Amino acid sequence: MLGPVSKAVFHTLAGRPTLKRLASRYGMRDARSFARRFIAGETVGEAIAAARALQASGLAVTLDYLGESVSAIAAADAATRAYVALIEQMAAAGVERNLSLKLTQLGLTVDRATCVDNLRRILDSATTHQAFVRIDMEDATFTAVTLDIFETVWHQGYRDAGVVLQSYLYRSEEDARRMNTLGARVRLVKGAYNEGRAVAYQAKADVDASFSRIMRLLLLEGTYPAIATHDPMLIDEACAFARERAVDRDRFEFQMLYGIRRDLQREVLKQGFRLRLYVPYGTAWYPYFMRRLSERPANVLFVARSLFR
Ligand code: FDA
Repeated sequence: MLGPVSKAVFHTLAGRPTLKRLASRYGMRDARSFARRFIAGETVGEAIAAARALQASGLAVTLDYLGESVSAIAAADAATRAYVALIEQMAAAGVERNLSLKLTQLGLTVDRATCVDNLRRILDSATTHQAFVRIDMEDATFTAVTLDIFETVWHQGYRDAGVVLQSYLYRSEEDARRMNTLGARVRLVKGAYNEGRAVAYQAKADVDASFSRIMRLLLLEGTYPAIATHDPMLIDEACAFARERAVDRDRFEFQMLYGIRRDLQREVLKQGFRLRLYVPYGTAWYPYFMRRLSERPANVLFVARSLFR
């Protein structure tokens, strides 16, 4: 985890058009390219092939069609159609139907009502094909509206959906209680955006302590929570807590990101726990890729080496 200052610098750099052009030119073109480490491919076919291979090795998957912050209704509609098609293609390919999406990809910043309609289109298809839809959590300006939209569709009877809570936000413990009361499925993460001290813990120790508190709350009172981290200490803690409080292994799952800590993935599987990988694909990979780089200084060196090789 980078400190808040270096993370802020990184997020500023990520917005620079020159860097974006460079990354897009070199990022996915050759097979050794650095973006490939984190992204399954640019097409749905590549994503489904990756999902199949992961399933064969005992992992569950959730597919993410990359995209966010769309600024036109047409783009939001295209993303919605892509998700509906993805559910159908996963069903046809015999891959477990589980996907992750972002509300700004469905037009949240353009028109909230259209975004909710788009989400319902995807949820209707999910109901037809027994799919599960996870609504990813974006930066803190979207937390309240994302949870409100989720609650709206939940009360309309859409139950094959879940949300994400970020332990770096002060508000998340309260949100976890709110989601537990609903009976909704929560994925707990540390948080990947650059947030200020007005809303978020800044020190790693505080983010981790908050993760630990919310994790316990979800394991005891939540509905099939997903503990999504590559932090071995927190994973060990979750395993020990579940054992201590007799929470069965089939009542929660761990989640990790495609291409990160494969050694730890194998270890978690070996110990008999459920593990789902978040598998992103598509051409709009740049913001996702930048968040992965910002999480670990060593990744930036890895990129620099690939560029100059
Ligand atoms: P931490 O950052 O402390 O890392 C622990 C260890 O993991 C590191 O020491 C390193 O070994 C390894 N590691 C972590 N990141 C790495 C990287 N990029 N490259 C290489 N090694 C790395 N965030 C969000 O805001 N909204 C969301 O919806 C989601 N969704 C989501 C789904 C899933 C399945 C996961 C696993 C994560 C997310 N995230 C997310 C991202 C999350 O908020 C967080 O940024 C990353 O998981 C990194 O934090 P860790 O918990 O791994 O801990």
